[in-house]
Order: sequence, then structure tokens, then C-alpha cells
Amino acid sequence: MSIKLAIHGGNRELHARWPEWPMHDRTEERALLSVLRSGKWWYGDWVRRFERDFASFQGVNHAVTTTSGTAALEIALAVLGVGPGDEVIVPAYTFVATASAALRVRARVVFADVVPQTLDMDPADLARKITRRTRAIIPVHIAGNICDMDRINSIARRRRIPVVEDACHAWGSKWKGRGAGGLGACGAFSFQVSKNITAGEGGMMVTNSAALAERLQAFTHVGRRLGRAWYAHFTRATNARMTEFQAAVLCCQLARLKAQTLRRQANAGSARSRGSAPSSRTRGTRGGRTISISSGWIRA
Ligand SMILES: Cc1ncc(COP(=O)(O)O)c(C=O)c1O
Repeated sequence: MSIKLAIHGGNRELHARWPEWPMHDRTEERALLSVLRSGKWWYGDWVRRFERDFASFQGVNHAVTTTSGTAALEIALAVLGVGPGDEVIVPAYTFVATASAALRVRARVVFADVVPQTLDMDPADLARKITRRTRAIIPVHIAGNICDMDRINSIARRRRIPVVEDACHAWGSKWKGRGAGGLGACGAFSFQVSKNITAGEGGMMVTNSAALAERLQAFTHVGRRLGRAWYAHFTRATNARMTEFQAAVLCCQLARLKAQTLRRQANAGSARSRGSAPSSRTRGTRGGRTISISSGWIRA
């Protein structure tokens, strides 16, 4: 059967307007104006509030804001002590930043295959790629599709290798009820403009370790520790702080995320039932996995 495309005069499948992205309303406008008028634009209450809200949303103990998902991955590796001569295992299918983060700390990138059905890191190939130089493993929960973290963690634990989850698409994704990012040593999230919540740019590192959270935070804050002397710099570090404007927008975006995720999962279900989306990548819950579904794949 030949189908005439709408562009050539055939029937249109979509009659409503394509949803605009990013989504925002008066709440973002009010929050942005309140930051502007307060004169407090720098690394204050909104940043702290977003860190608390995001940690609670993701079900982890600590969240540390930063400038991007790329920065979050680079900082996580640097703070975990990965450096020249070390090897970092990343999946063969991901965004460039997963691998370039390893190169930025002068480590070697080693690729592990992905499982074709989910595009997640294949634990069997990961086990084959480990050497005595492996210093970190970065599984990527691609499009919110959470990896088999039981198998990945058990391989990593046996060799005492830290797992840094690239959770840049996994806001709200869970493995057996536990939030992405809190399943290994730490996790990295992105709030770049194509992501399910966004302030144009932005990133977050999450962890359940208070000691690691303090080191991650100091690294983004030129080596300072919160509440300590201004010119006391405890470690070699950088400036990768989030602004109050970004944090204010992200607090508003986060408040909408749960409802949007449910709508996105319903939309994915409808695309799946018409045969226009692969079931393995768009099912909201499957075999212990709760999948957020990236907005790049299915709109809310
Ligand atoms: C899997 C993955 N990791 C890391 C990143 C980097 O995030 P950012 O763009 O915030 O630097 C992205 C961004 O698209 C990504 O898709």
C-alpha cells in the first residue's frame, strides 16, 4: 500500500500544534523576576533549594549543582582521582561527553558494547573490558532507560572500581525502586535545553556519600567549603557554580516533572501501540526498571 505524505497532499496525522520546548509558564516568570529584583544572583538560597528538591526527587542523600552534565562527569572523575594512565570504561553508544570527560582527566577511554534492545552498557562485555588499569566505569542510562545496575555494580564491586552513572537522561528513572544516580559512587545529570527539565544549561552530581558530596561541592566552588573562610581553598578545583537564575527556573521545572513524565509515558504507550516506537525503549516500567523517557524521543 502506498501512503501519500501530508507534505505531498496526503492526510495529516497530527492536527494539533507540535508542543514547544522548553515548556514554561508564569511560575518561571515570577521566580526569575524575584531573583532579578532581590539583587541576590549568586549561589544562594535558590541553588540550595534546587539541590534539596532534586535530591529528594531522585531519592538520594546529596545533590551538588554545577554548570552542565559534561562538567558533572569531568568533576566526578577528577574528584574520584582518575588521571593519566588510568582507563575508564564507557558504552560504545552515548553522547560524546561520556567519553570526553575521561579524556579531560587524561585517562584512556575503553568502549564496552551495548545491549541492542535497550542501547545500555552490556555487563558481559564490561566484564571482558576490565584491566588492572580500570579506574572508573560509566554506564549511561540512555534516553532514561536504566542499565542493569545489579550486574554492573557486582562486577565493579569485585574489582573495587567506582561506578559513575551518566544519568544525564534519567531524571526520575529507577532501578528496582531506587533512583538513578544513587546506585553507584555518584551520578551526573544534565539540564541542557533539550532535556526533560532545563534552564538552558546546568548540571548536577548526586551521591549517597556525605564525604564525596563535600569534595564534589568544593571542586565546583574553587576549592572552598560552604560556611568556611572565604579565602580558605581546601583543594585544587575550578569554578563550576550554578547561578540563582538557573536554580530558580529549575525549581519550577522540577515541580512539573512528575506529571510530565506520566504524560510522556502515556504518549510513548500510544506511539508504541501504533507501531511507531520500539517497545523496549519506551515502556514506562519493565523488569524492575522505571524509565523517565528523554524528551528527545517522546514529548510530554
Ligand atoms: C548521555 C549524555 N551524557 C552527557 C551529556 C552532557 O550534558 P550537557 O549537555 O549538559 O553538558 C549529554 C548531553 O546531551 C548526554 O546526552
